[in-house]
Amino acid sequence: MLRVLCLNGPNLDMLGRREPGVYGSLTLPELEERVRRWGADSGCEVECLQSNRESELIEAIHGAADFDGVVINPGALTHTSFALRDAVAAVDIPVVEVHISNVRSRDRWRRRSVLSDVAVHTIFGRGPDGYRAALRHLVNRASCPVETRRYGPHPDQVFDLRPGSGRRGAALVHGGFWLDTWGRDTTESWAVDLHRRGVATANLEYRRLGSGGGVVPTLADVAEALAAASDALSPTPPIVIGHSAGAHLALAVAARAGIGGLVLVSGVYDPAAPGVDEVGAAAGRRFDPDAATRLDRLAPPDCPVLLIHGAEDRVVPPAQSEAAAAALGGVAELAIVPGEGHFDVLKPASESWRKVADWLERLP
Ligand code: DQA
Repeated sequence: MLRVLCLNGPNLDMLGRREPGVYGSLTLPELEERVRRWGADSGCEVECLQSNRESELIEAIHGAADFDGVVINPGALTHTSFALRDAVAAVDIPVVEVHISNVRSRDRWRRRSVLSDVAVHTIFGRGPDGYRAALRHLVNRASCPVETRRYGPHPDQVFDLRPGSGRRGAALVHGGFWLDTWGRDTTESWAVDLHRRGVATANLEYRRLGSGGGVVPTLADVAEALAAASDALSPTPPIVIGHSAGAHLALAVAARAGIGGLVLVSGVYDPAAPGVDEVGAAAGRRFDPDAATRLDRLAPPDCPVLLIHGAEDRVVPPAQSEAAAAALGGVAELAIVPGEGHFDVLKPASESWRKVADWLERLP
């Protein structure tokens, strides 16, 4: 059981009453109750503290040596407090920064965080769920060794390497409708499960909409990350596994990448098609306004391909994977998994993931 300290900074005691259009209707006690419950579900005992005083937060961090990690929403201190930043840098425990709102799409001054480069991970714009993702991130970090490597100067040009005991390696491409509010923490449970199965992984990050991405820079990043990851995962060419928009990106670069296999999970290839979640459809238009990465414009990869989709996916309909399988023709194997939705597939206990793991084991 991990022990986690969850800190909320100035004005977060006003949650529920404070700008509900931005922060929602959940009060701080309700949020803390959820955080403790999410913690218990993912194997952490969570202690919560909120303070409007910078000094109290700093002292709480100094005193956190008994904890295995800290989740902190520093409120507006995020943008100004070098003292809080120094406190985070001074302690030898992982600190995850969380923001309920999308700090990058609001006032200009909110875009800067003086803490992000000393935090092990930053999550923003996912509402209260961001705290759950932060707890999972701490649990995943603690479950196997991880080393972050850089493939370019931008903060998003990184990948996380986790070791394996076999020859096979896998590169993971996370989804999130090409938006910077979703990051590689979403595919970490896959990485940890593959480590347990002896498969080394590189969990790729890349520039997305909101962090300098767009069809050209994002595809360049994914291709570059994959090349760097292939070197790190050699000698065998890696299997590439993408989720949702990450499946689309993986397919778009796969033909040029020299890979050993491609697994496309809950992929979204045509965001304008009926049934795709509204946020995704809008993001898809922004990401690739000229539809340069439409299925019929992508070169098919020269390797075995598995497509998996949950039959109950209400975010991206399974018809997307059916269309992709038809476009790829003979090389692709398709499985529509009854009873599973868009995010179920990210859980190692899901039937979809079991199918992926079986397929990987069967690869020559
Ligand atoms: C916040 C964002 C900050 O800019 C703001 O000052 C807060 C809350 C968030 O959770 O979205 O107080 O950290």
